[in-house]
Amino acid sequence: MKDKLEKLNHKIKEAKLGGGPKRIEAQHQKGKLTARERIHFLLDPDSFEEIGMFVTHRSHDFGMEDQKYLGDGVVTGYGRINGRLVYVFSQDFTVFGGSLSETYAEKIVKIMDLAMENGAPVIGLNDSGGARIQEGVVSLGGYADIFYRNTVASGFIPQISAVMGPCAGGAVYSPAITDFILMVEHTSFMFVTGPNVVKTVTNESVTSEELGGAHTHATKSGVTHLTAPNDLIAIEQIKQLIGFMPQNCNEKAPSLPYEIGEEYRPKLKDIIPSNPNQPYDMKEVINELVDEGSFFEIHKDFAENIVVGFARLAGRSIGIVGNQPMSLAGVLDVNSSKKGARFVRFCDSFNIPLLVLEDVPGFLPGTDQEWNAIISNGAKLLYAFSEATVPRITVIIRKAYGGAYDVMNSKHIGADFNYAWPSAEIAVMGAKGASEIIFRKEIQAADDPVAKLAEKEAEYADKFAHPYRAAARGFVDEVIKPSETRRKLIKSFAVLENKKVMRPSKKHGNIPL
Ligand code: HXC
Repeated sequence: MKDKLEKLNHKIKEAKLGGGPKRIEAQHQKGKLTARERIHFLLDPDSFEEIGMFVTHRSHDFGMEDQKYLGDGVVTGYGRINGRLVYVFSQDFTVFGGSLSETYAEKIVKIMDLAMENGAPVIGLNDSGGARIQEGVVSLGGYADIFYRNTVASGFIPQISAVMGPCAGGAVYSPAITDFILMVEHTSFMFVTGPNVVKTVTNESVTSEELGGAHTHATKSGVTHLTAPNDLIAIEQIKQLIGFMPQNCNEKAPSLPYEIGEEYRPKLKDIIPSNPNQPYDMKEVINELVDEGSFFEIHKDFAENIVVGFARLAGRSIGIVGNQPMSLAGVLDVNSSKKGARFVRFCDSFNIPLLVLEDVPGFLPGTDQEWNAIISNGAKLLYAFSEATVPRITVIIRKAYGGAYDVMNSKHIGADFNYAWPSAEIAVMGAKGASEIIFRKEIQAADDPVAKLAEKEAEYADKFAHPYRAAARGFVDEVIKPSETRRKLIKSFAVLENKKVMRPSKKHGNIPL
């Protein structure tokens, strides 16, 4: 037995070394952790159980039969984050550049199947040169096996992808199907074709960083939801993120203990400037409303005219969507609609109640927007809110104009409680624009058109630049004081805790993609 145990220990030691000390050193030189170090920092101490440590590839081409590494370039298994079960795979760049072989894919597939059968999240730590070139089509097949499972698991268990190294070719599509992508600045990139192919096909000269680095995907494409300056911070973000989610779509997100106390927030009444055209930071409103320091922003640097993120309200996990007057006056455009819709759908998939903070002057006009399909993209947000069956509350902070009033979780599309602050203005458009259209002839005919416009503007504002018309119709349930909003929201979400909505049975809807 002693010999046999020694052999086992030897094999474990060999597997843990991945591609060997030299390549581990090279990984560290790049500022990256190894696959195993990442798992070590991600999971609760001693909670990781590995599956498939001794798996090797089956390739016999290009002398591969003589190059075998135990584990074959991916570490897979399960463990706990703050006591909660998660399944993990961590790609090992020190073995064939973390490239995906047939057996490597089988290892990932195995833990994805276990995760689905047991209703627990999957976390993928990606660091890979893509399909293992020596294996050809079996590697491509392996990817497709993973994509298929990502899709089947979507909406059933949360799936999180951290990109912590290269992620090239079709390999980007597994992260793309998952719920959240995190990228590490300067050491990770994602693209379908790299700079060399780009140069050949389009004659553009671009670096990997410009083409698909973390900054690019955080600001331009919106492909990544979060970025981190290094692996350790990315891992902390994963842990925070997962804390807001349930294990699967049949459960509720875990709550933190909270004792209701004095929930007034007098500061809120001073955030909104008296001039309705002056911006303010919606994140200030959010931070005053939610449990202290609990706001966790998603997509921070993309489509900044809308703010989305998770937070806690009296210990409960909620999703927040807020218009941001600091950026483009908070208008809805193509990118902000997509960003909002994606977030709303995630929250709805996983039973996370939604709070909408509204200050929106309308949709952004222009050829750029129309030609980039603001119609279909705006419709995504409308559709996402309309189909959401989680508890939904809207607070109209200031402007609620035009179609954007309908879209931003209005009563008409199924919100449970709609509140407005006394500063709310709910109308088809702003008083000036409205007066210029409906009183055009009268203004033109006036001796002093400027004075006439001002008079008509005041008349329109008097009629509509307040929440009371909407409240009279019941479109707004109550006009509330800013300082009482937090208390109101805590009570309102509590009474919606057991909300159930029946919808017609169907395969699935057809969101305007
Ligand atoms: C096999 C690979 C590999 C791959 C890297 N390696 N990529 N082995 N298949 N796809 C190996 C290298 O030979 C090298 O081995 C080691 O990994 C480290 O690679 P380096 O090139 O030395 O590292 P670095 O300079 O950091 O560059 C990393 C890289 C580059 C940017 C990822 O290796 C690269 O461009 N690789 C190819 C990427 C690619 O085109 N993949 C296929 C995409 S198509 P040694 O022994 O020297 O250490 C695809 C299809 C998916 O993925 C389809 C899904 C639909």
